[in-house]
Amino acid sequence: MTKLNHHFQKLRDGYLFSEIEKRVSAHQKKYPQACLLNLGIGDVTHPLFPNVVEALVKASYEMGDIQTFRGYGPSDGYDFLKQAIAQNDYSGIALDEIFISDGINTDISNIQEIFSIENRVGIMDPAYPVYVDVTVMAGRTKPLLKTGGYGGITYFPCSEGNGFQPEVPNAHVDLIFLCSPNNPTGVTMGRENLTKWVRYAREHQAIILFDAAYEAFITSDAPRSIYEIDGAKEVAVEFRSFSKSAGFTGLRCSYTVIPHALKVRDAGKIQSLNQLWKRRLDTKSNGVSYPIQKAAEALYTQTGKRALQETIESYSQRAKILLEGLRKIGYSVYGGLDSPYLWCKTPPKIRSWEFFDFVLENAHVVTVPGFGFGCSGDSFIRFSAFAERDAIEQTLSRFKALA
Ligand SMILES: Cc1ncc(COP(=O)(O)O)c(C=O)c1O
Repeated sequence: MTKLNHHFQKLRDGYLFSEIEKRVSAHQKKYPQACLLNLGIGDVTHPLFPNVVEALVKASYEMGDIQTFRGYGPSDGYDFLKQAIAQNDYSGIALDEIFISDGINTDISNIQEIFSIENRVGIMDPAYPVYVDVTVMAGRTKPLLKTGGYGGITYFPCSEGNGFQPEVPNAHVDLIFLCSPNNPTGVTMGRENLTKWVRYAREHQAIILFDAAYEAFITSDAPRSIYEIDGAKEVAVEFRSFSKSAGFTGLRCSYTVIPHALKVRDAGKIQSLNQLWKRRLDTKSNGVSYPIQKAAEALYTQTGKRALQETIESYSQRAKILLEGLRKIGYSVYGGLDSPYLWCKTPPKIRSWEFFDFVLENAHVVTVPGFGFGCSGDSFIRFSAFAERDAIEQTLSRFKALA
């Protein structure tokens, strides 16, 4: 008889965004005439840049010509894209420390299988729900606690009290998920705090999985890469994506950096995480398609860089309008400056799903309930500024009317 991976039974019912979709579709049936404004899921609205489309088309034609056709590519990506990344996004990162992928979700989930099941995992609370889900799927958690979190995970609360900065724990953790700017709070980790985490990881021989999906949105002097912190190359893996900055959510291209300096000491041996990851990719992946990597390379041309900057500025401007508008109405709102996300406090004693339902019912605006990102998020809703400017302005008028 076929048996299932029983750890899947421990997952909460439904992925957060599926539950939101369910409620939104019920709402649409109830109010078919209502003009729904979606500031929820956080998918991008700007299309691909024209020079990216040109590169994609050109590469596709190359694939149809016997002179230029390419079959399987390198499992870790073509050097032309790695070179562009190494030259533009980093200093001192070698090409074989960069792994091209079809998305952060893929890599941040798959990297778990390299590590023993016995590792203790630490996750920011609130955080992007994928970190908890993949930890559960891998079998690293115990039953749900009364507080709503999973046993076996060490949570790092990010609250108004600590300025949404996760604090290093007193206890030992082996695998640490950090995200900066954090989704959902929209708050970036400060240099001093990140330095404490790197120091902690070095002392505890722990590994930081640093999700920098939104680094392109940082305008403050907060670190854009964990490798800006001394000693981080020995303890941190960094994940970056073209999804949100360049509209690649549908095209799929990202990259992961694993420095050679990152070594794991286990069973009396010192092993290179970079080599283990490469070994895994060689078996399990045939890489990202050539046209998509060519499209990503086009982001590093002058035209691509200009378009990227304009796009980020446009989203950031919308985030700022939303931030100022909501604050003017009287809400306590965080994030939105280094990030396309805003973290808005619910009215006193109203929990996040309740406020989500209230806003949907009365303003026809879709947000995301903070509880979906962790127990510490239950008195917040998240807004995404990946929306048309008009939708942002209408949202503000409707919230004014609610007040
Ligand atoms: C923090 C964070 N990491 C990763 C992702 C997914 O990135 P990708 O599209 O590269 O899989 C998202 C998408 O919303 C995200 O918010």
